[in-house]
Amino acid sequence: MPILNNQGDFFIIKAKDNGVHVIGLTRGNDTRFHHTEKLDKGEVMIAQFTEHTSAVKVRGKATIMTKFGVMETDD
Ligand code: TRP
Repeated sequence: MPILNNQGDFFIIKAKDNGVHVIGLTRGNDTRFHHTEKLDKGEVMIAQFTEHTSAVKVRGKATIMTKFGVMETDD
């Protein structure tokens, strides 16, 4: 049974600039980047924490929405 069984939390990233990067980091002993998604201004990514992804790094000006609230990377 995978650790999250596809029930991981969702989050939303909205790019406020061109070239925002959403970087997924691997779950487990080995923490490394496994996917980088580049968003341009106004683009929205809806994603989930999964058995492969335990952390996400956002680079650039963006709005991040999670169950904890909304935050801006440039605050
Ligand atoms: N294949 C990845 C996974 O299932 C896709 C993915 C899910 C992802 N959430 C992400 C990639 C967040 C980057 C950031 O885990």
